[in-house]
Amino acid sequence: HGSSQINVHGHLEIGGVDTVALAKEHGTPLFVYDVALIRKKAAEFKEAFEKEQVPYQVAYASKAFSCIAMYQLANELGLSFDVVSGGELYTAIKAEVPMNKVHFHGNNKSPEELDLAVKAGIGCVVVDNFYEMTLLEETCVRHNKTMDVLLRITPGVEAHTHDYISTGQEDSKFGFDLTNGQVDQAIKQALASPHMNLLGVHSHIGSQIFETKGFVMAVEKIFEYIEHWRTELEFIPRVLNLGGGFGIRYVEGDEPLPGGEYVYQMIKVMKQYAEKAEMALPEIWIEPGRSLVGDAGTTLYTVGSQKDIPNVRHYLAVDGGMSDNLRPSLYQAEYEGILANRANEEATDTFSIAGKCCESGDMLIWDLPLPKANHEDILAVFCTGAYGYSMANNYNRIPRPPVVFAENGDVQLVVKREDYEDLVRLDLPLSR
Ligand code: LLP
Repeated sequence: HGSSQINVHGHLEIGGVDTVALAKEHGTPLFVYDVALIRKKAAEFKEAFEKEQVPYQVAYASKAFSCIAMYQLANELGLSFDVVSGGELYTAIKAEVPMNKVHFHGNNKSPEELDLAVKAGIGCVVVDNFYEMTLLEETCVRHNKTMDVLLRITPGVEAHTHDYISTGQEDSKFGFDLTNGQVDQAIKQALASPHMNLLGVHSHIGSQIFETKGFVMAVEKIFEYIEHWRTELEFIPRVLNLGGGFGIRYVEGDEPLPGGEYVYQMIKVMKQYAEKAEMALPEIWIEPGRSLVGDAGTTLYTVGSQKDIPNVRHYLAVDGGMSDNLRPSLYQAEYEGILANRANEEATDTFSIAGKCCESGDMLIWDLPLPKANHEDILAVFCTGAYGYSMANNYNRIPRPPVVFAENGDVQLVVKREDYEDLVRLDLPLSR
């Protein structure tokens, strides 16, 4: 994975840093990010657009992993920012990234969130529904501002992925439906508003996608309507945002394409259709989350108790679990891992990695080949960089782990470990 390797002590190294030393210094569980790999992934997407000389924006879908340092890094890499809540927007504000590069998503943005967005002067709001359009209009009037907007449309394309993370199909809570006139109505309303500047449309078909077909189909669907929008509504989209969803390799058998490949296919089909429609090629925006940070993240755990059920299963318990990685219990997501302190040793058996939460479903990995593990061994679980920390929680009042960035032998703590004081900070004792 990325710049990870095994050093002379037989320890796993990430970004030139010994993970066993990291575990000692920062404790476990610990998220370690390989910053060089994030740089590489961002460059792949950008280079594809630049090679084809297509106007573009690559917005980092920060729901995958957000903290102040991550927004700053994304900014350094020339990315824009996709935020989906007041909390993410607030974090981006704190990171002092350029607000005109922030795109605001969400199917139920609150009046307060829209207020924050308009006041901050963000780059665009991706309007999801009619209620939001009314709220945004009112907010803009109040602040006497205009807002660039995209309309989130549901193209009726199904991505073949887990049901919970597939969003482009017709029966979805997100966006205006393309096929039943909702989009037309929304376009009219946005064009009529003096406070909205309608840039174009947005479609996101799902997540952890390995093929380009779904994206191509979404472009086809949109172009089916473009002629109609132009002649009937005098609307020509200047921006087509095709969302995120580019897959990564979690385990053997996952076969994602390189990031640039998705982009090339999008550009190709878009050029064909734009030419046919005799219109200028719209700007292409994408929103990768997982593919930028997913395989750059590794979680380090300390092995604790074990339970051997002869001829059935050997459980190894670690000091984290569904509190820092909800994906296995929520989506049956699979991961690979090794013993970071004995990275050279051959696997001799299979172990099932249990979390420490009071719940049978709190299993991180089933049947992982490992050398015979002891308590105090360090288990490294790979590819936890997306939707790991960001979906971490305090179930069982377990404090959330810290996060470090590693690069060229240098380590930076970017999120501190929660402590017990943090956990009771908002609690109020009974007053009577
Ligand atoms: N844009 C929009 C509008 C989205 O809804 C999403 C993800 C993305 C971009 C980024 O998708 P990505 O490139 O990361 O696949 N918690 C789930 C994933 C939920 C994704 C939700 N939307 C998981 O852990 O697999």
